[in-house]
Amino acid sequence: MTTILNSFQALAYILAALAFILALAGLSKQTSAARGNTLGIIGMAIALIAAIVVALSGAGSHALTAIGILAVAIVIGAIIGILRARSVQMTEMPQLVAMLHSFVGAAAVLVGFNSFLATPGANTAENAYHLGEVGLAVFIGAVTLTGSIVAFLKLSAKISGKPLTLPGRNAINLIALIICIALIGWLITTRGVEAGLVPLCILTVISLLLGAHLVLAIGGGDMPVVVSMLNSYSGWAAAMAGFTLGNDLLIITGALVGSSGAYLSWIMCKGMNRSFVSVILGGFGGGTTSNSGEAKDYGTHTEITAEETAALLKGAKRVVITPGYGMATAQAQFPVADLARKLQAMGIDVKFGIHPVAGRMPGHMNVLLAEAKVPYDSVYEMDEINDDFGDVDVVLVIGANDTVNPSALTEPDSPIAGMPVLRVWEAERVIAFKRKMGNAGYSGVVNPLFFNDNTDMLLGDAKGSVEAIIAAL
Ligand code: TAP
Repeated sequence: MTTILNSFQALAYILAALAFILALAGLSKQTSAARGNTLGIIGMAIALIAAIVVALSGAGSHALTAIGILAVAIVIGAIIGILRARSVQMTEMPQLVAMLHSFVGAAAVLVGFNSFLATPGANTAENAYHLGEVGLAVFIGAVTLTGSIVAFLKLSAKISGKPLTLPGRNAINLIALIICIALIGWLITTRGVEAGLVPLCILTVISLLLGAHLVLAIGGGDMPVVVSMLNSYSGWAAAMAGFTLGNDLLIITGALVGSSGAYLSWIMCKGMNRSFVSVILGGFGGGTTSNSGEAKDYGTHTEITAEETAALLKGAKRVVITPGYGMATAQAQFPVADLARKLQAMGIDVKFGIHPVAGRMPGHMNVLLAEAKVPYDSVYEMDEINDDFGDVDVVLVIGANDTVNPSALTEPDSPIAGMPVLRVWEAERVIAFKRKMGNAGYSGVVNPLFFNDNTDMLLGDAKGSVEAIIAAL
């Protein structure tokens, strides 16, 4: 019976791990993202069933109690998950993810304590190794727990988004890290529950404080990158919990989440021209809302009406739409998709150009365009479309600002200097949609694009403006 059970568990874990790997591969492309999601669900279902079967088979005469406890846990988890997922708005996604990461962190801490209480003391070399795993699981889990709670509170505006810049904050983080490593060293040498609980509890408290401090030091607007980094931390916390539990699937899953989260953060950092190392160390985002550039005078802008824009579009052969955060806040994706369809029906070549950090979270624009049923093959990443703007007749910049700001390339003192941008100004005409002049983008920098001779401003709410163009067409 035990052999059959072991084989069942091994097979189930391999299948689940494969499903998770294929899920990640699927999620890398829009066309296969839905399939990737389904594979992830299948993998998680297999993992859950296997974990429950194995837990029940080991429960002996307590099987009924175990079933009861598992049923209560699953029902509570499912209710919270379903209710939150159904009610969450797209714009609230980062805080939902932050909240979920805090659960992973809490689970890693609890698993660490449980594992310590089950086999305390370093009586053997193997057990000393085990205590090292416990220490690491509790450390990473506790940092993830409070870091994610602070990220959640900042993103949902329950606490101020301003960065907390304590004097010597980097030194504080470094000292806390060194103390935590020393405490794990102490834990490894202890024997018995009481002796081990002392370093473990101190380690937990310092790690909790460190996690909170790391994220409190970061400005609210930069939280999406931090959430992606915490996603990575939560993966490593799960992997550590997998080591303490001796659960291979948890190790594989944790490593997949940990490395993919780190990779995503790296892509976001590259897209925003930020230092990846400073994100990991929590020293990120302090100066991002600087208004430097505000004083620069780029001359006067010219305005255009929706009717004139419609006339311009009718005469165009190639049109590129570059959406940004403003399209998301205006919820203009549906009329924008309608406009694209109308223009395509008139024989005009319409493409979408997506900057990797347009909006406020990874893939923000892609999700909105998919929601509005824009075909994937007309959506291009920045690198795929950036060399083509010279051949484009009209670019519609819909609520984008920083991601189309030429000063990133031309002004070395700009806060966004070096950030890769969509070179829309190379097109023959640019129509920029925003509510009013004077409002800067996310980085607080004025955009000289809006004052170019070949740029006209279409001022007003993006949704209303696009609907007016459709009406005029
Ligand atoms: P932003 O630079 O934030 O500019 C948004 C533009 O939309 C502004 O010009 C704003 O002007 C306009 N807007 C706002 N509401 C509007 C409405 N209802 N109708 C029409 N226009 C409206 O946007 P972006 O170009 O997408 O750049 C994203 C920025 O966020 C980057 O700096 C990026 O680094 C940062 N960021 C991104 C992420 C991720 S992962 N995507 C994460 C953190 C930070 P008005 O106010 O005048 O309307």
